[in-house]
Amino acid sequence: MPETDHDTLTITRLGLHGDGIAPGPVYAARTLPGEEIRGEITGDRIAAPKIVTPSPNRVKPPCPLYARCGGCALQHAADPFVAGWKRQVVIDALSAHGLSAPMRPIRTSPPRTRRRATLSGRRLKKGTLLGFHTRASDTIVDIPGCEVLAPTITEALPSLAEFLPVLGSRKGELALAVTVSEAGLDVDIRGGKPLDPALRLSLTALTQKLDLARLSLDGEVFLTLRPPAQRFGPASVTPPPGAFLQATAPGEAALLAAVAEAVGPARRIADLFAGCGTFALPLATRAEVHAVEGDADMLAALDAGWRKTPGLSKVTTEARDLFRRPLLPDDLARFGAVVIDPPRAGAEAQTAALASAQPDRIAAVSCNPVTFARDAKMLCDAGYALRWVQVVDQFRWSPHVELAAAFTAPHIQP
Ligand SMILES: C[S@@+](CC[C@H](N)C(=O)[O-])C[C@H]1O[C@@H](n2cnc3c(N)ncnc32)[C@H](O)[C@@H]1O
Repeated sequence: MPETDHDTLTITRLGLHGDGIAPGPVYAARTLPGEEIRGEITGDRIAAPKIVTPSPNRVKPPCPLYARCGGCALQHAADPFVAGWKRQVVIDALSAHGLSAPMRPIRTSPPRTRRRATLSGRRLKKGTLLGFHTRASDTIVDIPGCEVLAPTITEALPSLAEFLPVLGSRKGELALAVTVSEAGLDVDIRGGKPLDPALRLSLTALTQKLDLARLSLDGEVFLTLRPPAQRFGPASVTPPPGAFLQATAPGEAALLAAVAEAVGPARRIADLFAGCGTFALPLATRAEVHAVEGDADMLAALDAGWRKTPGLSKVTTEARDLFRRPLLPDDLARFGAVVIDPPRAGAEAQTAALASAQPDRIAAVSCNPVTFARDAKMLCDAGYALRWVQVVDQFRWSPHVELAAAFTAPHIQP
């Protein structure tokens, strides 16, 4: 047994960013509950903890770059531990509001399934660097055998790096948002040099040489060789550059299955924060859907996808800021079910309107258990029952926690 002296700290829990926390609090990244650690404390942090007594949940990180790369935070923890921790984050967030719910088994996306990522790139004196930032620094580490990204992205890294000397200056960094589409890679590069005719020619030639589906610059389409389509149920949608898309196909399938179950037999559904139609279009195989979203370009893509897909029920779209102008009880009265999938801030104003409109069923999707629990409390205070929660882990080895949940109005039997 290692000696426990005053320099040895015991990690008691993980914080929401995945750091281990010892009483104090003292934070130490990449440590686990129960571990005894030592190291120099600066402020409230041990930057380089020495693990004196490892946790039985500690495993050898599958990625050899884990020690340096900041892309993952929890590769040193066994899968069942991470699953239990993410589940507990949701249980704790609910219980802070006096709520509880039946928890379904977590659905974790397999390694190498992330189909979109924003990479950082830099042109060096000699060569280039393209990858993720190292932990808490502006250094970039290249990621040849990344365990998270889909192989289509990893295999394209050397090709994508060819953009760096063309578009990048030696001073600045480029951000490359890379998405796998049915037609090849959809790439949006931010932070590049201003365009001139020579640069335009080089970028066109490179896009053709690399056979990208589409190249965009700072969110504006530069060249489309093939529409970078995404499939949502039977519909094919070409999202605008940089549009929201669920991070993995298995994660999206798990969320969609949960949403489809939670909306029950409703014949008219409102899909709030609808994006490009991830839920709206598959649900239109069985119900009419009104899709509401703040970004008009995403809705235009959703609408175009619906129009060219035969056999779907009617889908209408409405561009609307749901924080400032939530759908009101009168607007909501015609829907038997509502899907709500807000950004991290949650949907306080819209949830207040739902609580008073009382649609039969609400399918909630959330990427932030804290705001989810706050909004769930509003629904439960208005008589809704929280039937179940399904944690979906599309951000394997990261501290992100996502979930889907089913609520039913007081007059609805399970
Ligand atoms: C988590 S994403 C979900 C998108 C979609 N449900 C999906 O699964 O692909 C949240 C969406 O909310 C939209 N959004 C953000 N703030 C908004 C606001 N104030 N009003 C309406 N939509 C907003 C974003 O554009 C984004 O599409």
